[in-house]
Amino acid sequence: MQEFINAALAAAYKAGELLRANWIRAKQIETKSDLTDIVTNVDKEADAMITNFLRSTFPDHGIVSEESPATQGKGLYCWYIDPIDGTTNFAHTYPHFSVSIALARDASMVVGVVYDPLRDETFCAQRGKGATLNGKPIHVSSVPTLDRSLMLTGFPYDRRQRSEFYLRFYRAFMLRAQGVRRSGSASLDLCYVAAGRADAFWEWRLYPWDTAAGALMVEEAGGKMSDFSGGPFNLFGEQTLASNGLVHQEAIAVLQEVTAATEQEGKLCCKPEM
Ligand code: IPD
Ligand code: CA
Ligand code: CA
Repeated sequence: MQEFINAALAAAYKAGELLRANWIRAKQIETKSDLTDIVTNVDKEADAMITNFLRSTFPDHGIVSEESPATQGKGLYCWYIDPIDGTTNFAHTYPHFSVSIALARDASMVVGVVYDPLRDETFCAQRGKGATLNGKPIHVSSVPTLDRSLMLTGFPYDRRQRSEFYLRFYRAFMLRAQGVRRSGSASLDLCYVAAGRADAFWEWRLYPWDTAAGALMVEEAGGKMSDFSGGPFNLFGEQTLASNGLVHQEAIAVLQEVTAATEQEGKLCCKPEM
């Protein structure tokens, strides 16, 4: 397993160097699914850098990376890569983004690395071996209740179409938690829950490259991952809930309450087409 961790770290540091060198420079920015969904030339360069490195190091492994077509491997292993998680921040020179790299074996995450190049923070997790920040073990917080919690969230790229729907959840947590933050990098959100810097995180419609590394980080730091009704977290599903475990049930109750109220009003507009 160590060779996989070393490769993930090497790839994250190489890409991180590129991000550090470019974040305040002018970038070429293109839009993708929506005007709010952007990609820069640096996302593409970092993507190529990481995928080329991992492909040449492990030719049998599958690779799913945000900015390039997925390739299927011959074996059981598959990498999930977000070359810049926090592209909107990066494009605007807002200093909060990361490189996220995870390795799954037979659909179960075994290694996760999230690197914040500006703070030089490396979050690293190995299944069954715990999670670390810059080499030191991390653990989720011991905050016992939602009213004492700092919550994190984000909004997916159909947010203009479904703003009212997403804001209902935001409002509900705004009324129950001590604070709610939207920082713009889901993988760092998950790592912050893992490190006890926040107590819970929820978001609709994330992609496997956003959550793969961070979800393992949370679990290995003693936290809990699930969907919004407490069912198992699904990397390919549309609901991500992470917490310190202690406030999980309370968070689920809020999510369920908002969902039920919205359904009752006939406003649960969609099962997403992802
Ligand atoms: C986005 C970030 C953001 C989250 C969005 C993601 P990207 O990823 O993680 O925090 O709210 O849903 O798509 O596009 O910057 O890689
Ligand atoms: Ca992302
Ligand atoms: Ca990205």
